[in-house]
Amino acid sequence: MHPLRRVLRAHRCLRWRPLASVSWLLLRTGRASCNLSSTTCPSPERQQEHGVQKDFSSRLATGPTFQHFLRNASVPQENLSSLDVEDPPPYLTVDQLLGRQRKVYLETYGCQMNVNDTEIAWSILQKSGYLRTNNLQEADVILLVTCSIREKAEQTIWNRLHQLRALKTKRPRSRVPLRIGILGCMAERLKEEILNREKIVDILAGPDAYRDLPRLLAVAESGQQAANVLLSLDETYADIMPVQTSPSATSAFVSIMRGCDNMCSYCIVPFTRGRERSRPVASIVEEVRKLSEQVLQLIHERDNICKQIHVPAQSGSSRVLEAMRRGYSREAYVELIHHIRESIPGVSLSSDFIAGFCGETEEDHLQTVSLLREVQYNMGFLFAYSMRQKTRAYHRLKDDVPEEVKLRRLEELITVFRKEATKANKTSVGCTQLVLVEGHSKRSSTDLCGRNDGNLKVIFPDVEIEDVTNSGLRVRAQPGDYVLVKITSASSQTLKGHVLCRTTLKGSSAYC
Ligand code: 5AD
Repeated sequence: MHPLRRVLRAHRCLRWRPLASVSWLLLRTGRASCNLSSTTCPSPERQQEHGVQKDFSSRLATGPTFQHFLRNASVPQENLSSLDVEDPPPYLTVDQLLGRQRKVYLETYGCQMNVNDTEIAWSILQKSGYLRTNNLQEADVILLVTCSIREKAEQTIWNRLHQLRALKTKRPRSRVPLRIGILGCMAERLKEEILNREKIVDILAGPDAYRDLPRLLAVAESGQQAANVLLSLDETYADIMPVQTSPSATSAFVSIMRGCDNMCSYCIVPFTRGRERSRPVASIVEEVRKLSEQVLQLIHERDNICKQIHVPAQSGSSRVLEAMRRGYSREAYVELIHHIRESIPGVSLSSDFIAGFCGETEEDHLQTVSLLREVQYNMGFLFAYSMRQKTRAYHRLKDDVPEEVKLRRLEELITVFRKEATKANKTSVGCTQLVLVEGHSKRSSTDLCGRNDGNLKVIFPDVEIEDVTNSGLRVRAQPGDYVLVKITSASSQTLKGHVLCRTTLKGSSAYC
């Protein structure tokens, strides 16, 4: 048995059963005395009463005492299961709060906040053992995440409920009854009016009540309507990681606050979503970190995403990074680079650097040189600092690195970057790489230019090649085609090679 359930069961016996037993016994004793007085009648009354009392007193004396009930209160563990069968508890058990593989269909109406609410609601239900379905017919629970912003938005939901009525009433008896829930702003605004008007609705949950969904669904399971439309001053669902509802989604929303205090004279939001409150920064950062992890994972997994990441460092000195207000130290940056390299082996990295920022010392500059050596970027964008009006540096800092020093430092950075990039790019010489053709080379019309999987430029002669998917067919590579190129030389900016054949992303066998 699950330890939690064991504890709950033991608890139930210790706390609830003695009370139940005692009250039941008291009733029986009372009834017994009544019966006695009414059944033993005829002879003289007092004698009779005396006899009855005597009989009752002697029976009472030989009967159980209060101590007896207290002793029996500690029911031995091995008897627990049989007691459970006898007497179902008067509250929801852990089991009842679980989804038991029931299938939930979620439908979202309205704004991005509702998209986020759907993800939160689903995260909570998923943890409770519910399954998700995108097929309405398959659903055991249908939840509409609703919007109240304009009248039309609500009308859409009423219409949808009319459609769902048929689904509910025609549900075969062989299946568990279909439960329908209204979540979000409309639940909050109309409250029990929905339950009264649309009898098919089983559950109402306002925007701050999604944690209560497993309980509401458990209550609905027993055939009762269940509602929680309490608004909260501090609910931000900070600890609940939203589950992105569509795996093919191209964007994700990170919600940073809930509710609204603006009270614009036309707007219902402050009344449906409650007081404005911000999510703790740490929980926002954690969510973004998880999303970034997913992006790294995708880049690693998918052949159609090139393995290149731009990680603009700006400086290798923690002191300068602080003056720049970049929000990270050199150590944190280097740690991130290691993490990216571990997540995507062979990833190509690029960066931006500024030479001669306000207050940059020679020591700071050498720190940047050492970072360039340490990371060995494949591509780099390096600039001398130029003070810009309106910036914080313009108002608060001094542009105190002389122009010639800025330029000298920039030259030094460029030299080190080129040396390191050439070294990194030369490891490709002799390899056959998959290249996405972009067009003719800017420098020569007889050459084609494309990009390898690290987004590095690859130049190769524009000659007739074989098409591997159409053996015997000779073609000229076109923009958008994939070709295999054997790399013959490398500089800091480009690779050169000769083209072997036209191929496809799937059919490619780039190797080194
Ligand atoms: N001076 C020099 N370089 C700058 N950049 C941004 N602002 C300045 C400036 N005032 C550089 C940074 C940034 C890139 C787009 O331009 O490196 O990442």
